[in-house]
Amino acid sequence: MAPPPLDELAALLPAQVAVAYPPRKPSDTQSLLAIEADALGAMRPERRHEFAHGRTCARAALAALGLADTPIPVGTTREPVWPDGIVGSITHCGPHAAAVAAHSRVTAGLGIDLESSEPLETGQVALICQPAERDWLRRHADQPELAKLLFSAKESLYKCLWPSVRQFIDFSAIGIRIDTDTGAFAVETWDPALPGALLRRIAGRYLLRDGWILSAACIR
Ligand SMILES: CC(C)(COP(=O)(O)OP(=O)(O)OC[C@H]1O[C@@H](n2cnc3c(N)ncnc32)[C@H](O)[C@@H]1OP(=O)(O)O)[C@@H](O)C(=O)NCCC(=O)NCCS
Repeated sequence: MAPPPLDELAALLPAQVAVAYPPRKPSDTQSLLAIEADALGAMRPERRHEFAHGRTCARAALAALGLADTPIPVGTTREPVWPDGIVGSITHCGPHAAAVAAHSRVTAGLGIDLESSEPLETGQVALICQPAERDWLRRHADQPELAKLLFSAKESLYKCLWPSVRQFIDFSAIGIRIDTDTGAFAVETWDPALPGALLRRIAGRYLLRDGWILSAACIR
């Protein structure tokens, strides 16, 4: 399988967003800062490598913003805790990982997600999609990867919204519209309990390439 198109991640986000995707190294776990290493205790070996690789990417993104050697602790609901004045996001998929970060004057939230484009199981489609999204998928039945794209876009959205919303959002609470001509997505419908003004400001972009889905969302 070809490597994921992480070299195109920067093109999915505003130019001021720092992007990093250094390859995974066995030494990633040793380079965790003390407060990050505290989280390792409860993790199995593969998860330790995944977590440490994500933190290596995140630190590289922060270094590009002039914040070298800044720890990114784990929050109470597993979210990365970025330094004051910074927003960012981490994703991993097997041995691949990437992180993005930006000053919060650039954007109020960033979310990225990397997935293989293997189709979702049928039962999962019902869980993650609203009726209009299921209709859209039926009209594009020749592209089974689009359901996985909806899933990935919603995970990016969730990460992007987290600093503003700080609550769990069910997949069925937000409906998105994907424009396959431009590679963009936007929020179309939402549960009235969610902040509509913020959701309208989400700008999403994605890539479907070589068996991979890469999605990114930011708040304009
Ligand atoms: C949090 C979640 C989005 C992570 O996605 P994932 O496919 O499991 O994994 P990814 O590798 O892409 O991302 C994992 C990283 O997301 C980050 N993350 C975890 N919780 C987060 C949160 N609440 N907000 C922002 N980022 C979060 C972490 O950095 C994590 O990596 P780490 O634990 O090594 O630090 C997912 O597990 C989840 O809970 N989804 C349910 C909610 C949802 O997506 N709703 C959609 C509403 S439209």
